[in-house]
Amino acid sequence: MNDRFLKACRREPVDCTPVWFMRQAGRYMAEYRSLRAKHSMLSLCKTPELAAQVTLQPIERFPLDAAIIFADILLPLEAMGLHLEFAEGEGPVIHNPVRSRADVDGLKAIDGTELEYVAEAVRQARKALNGRVPLIGFAGAPFTLASYAIEGGGSRNYVLTKSLMYREPDVWHQLMDMLARVVTGYLRRQIRAGAQAIQLFDSWVGCLSAGDYAEYVKPHVQLIFAGLEREGVPLIHFGTGTTAILRQMREAGGDVIGVDWRSHLDEAWAVIGHDRAVQGNLDPVALYAPLHEIERRVEDILRRAGGRNGHVFNLGHGILPTTPVEHVEAAINIIHKLSMR
Ligand code: CP3
Repeated sequence: MNDRFLKACRREPVDCTPVWFMRQAGRYMAEYRSLRAKHSMLSLCKTPELAAQVTLQPIERFPLDAAIIFADILLPLEAMGLHLEFAEGEGPVIHNPVRSRADVDGLKAIDGTELEYVAEAVRQARKALNGRVPLIGFAGAPFTLASYAIEGGGSRNYVLTKSLMYREPDVWHQLMDMLARVVTGYLRRQIRAGAQAIQLFDSWVGCLSAGDYAEYVKPHVQLIFAGLEREGVPLIHFGTGTTAILRQMREAGGDVIGVDWRSHLDEAWAVIGHDRAVQGNLDPVALYAPLHEIERRVEDILRRAGGRNGHVFNLGHGILPTTPVEHVEAAINIIHKLSMR
């Protein structure tokens, strides 16, 4: 098996830097678009055969070093009783958002059996991968999930989310605690179904001040990592806009800390501490640049990683739907070539 991804997560020596891309299965690939033309996003997620097939699409096409199970961070919210829709062109919408104590009390405290279809997709994807590369499982972190549950979709300023946090902190903590427990159980099930590493996506947590992160988020994230430690697989902790809270994210947990493209990788790593691995951090929009410019940027990131054990190459955030597919392939080859030990 190609295990350089797992080795880098554990800060062991590798033959070259492993690479995978967040959202590597998706609309920039014609193979995905043609399957998606026949099925809704939710039915792709809920049909394990299809989810496993989509998981493998980028692996069949590119020399990536890890696969990530095809699902979405919002699936647990649906299982908890929120009406989720992936609306054409406007992203996810929740039709009955959480705005009050009564709404939080009304959420179903699921134990994970409701998401058995994801565990089954993990089993099928593992089988289809047949040891070629490791399979990553994932979930959204409580803050990012709460922001969708409260706002009812994506947001610019998180006014409703922060208002609930500041106005009714006990309701906020009740919601976050519930989400943390659901996420822990859900990730444990993915690991037991065969996920060989886990990524926790706190994509939007960078909208918070360092003080608010410490008070309203960190203890809940800590609970998740503490609950998964004994499972024995590498845990990746990712967020964007997190330059001011990287140290706190490390303290909250994770063997590997995700770094977005805004920071220099060496500066971020020094803050995180060299006793943790890091993942990142090419700007997703850099994949639209000419290949010589992609090469220059990859070279800079690798130079900043300094040949140290414990670097997983990735984008600073998910790959965008209009990314030129040949540039994805070229970037992966450049990363492998320039990092060859
Ligand atoms: O990485 C992978 O290949 C695995 C699949 C994956 C998806 N969503 C599939 C998806 C993963 C890891 C996610 C995570 C996710 N989902 C996050 C965290 C990562 C990040 O990018 O910050 C978030 C915030 C979501 C919520 C979500 N789902 C949004 C905001 C959107 C719409 C945005 C868009 O690109 O349209 C989705 C829909 C979604 N999730 C799609 C895919 C492939 C597009 C659905 C389609 O085909 O129409």
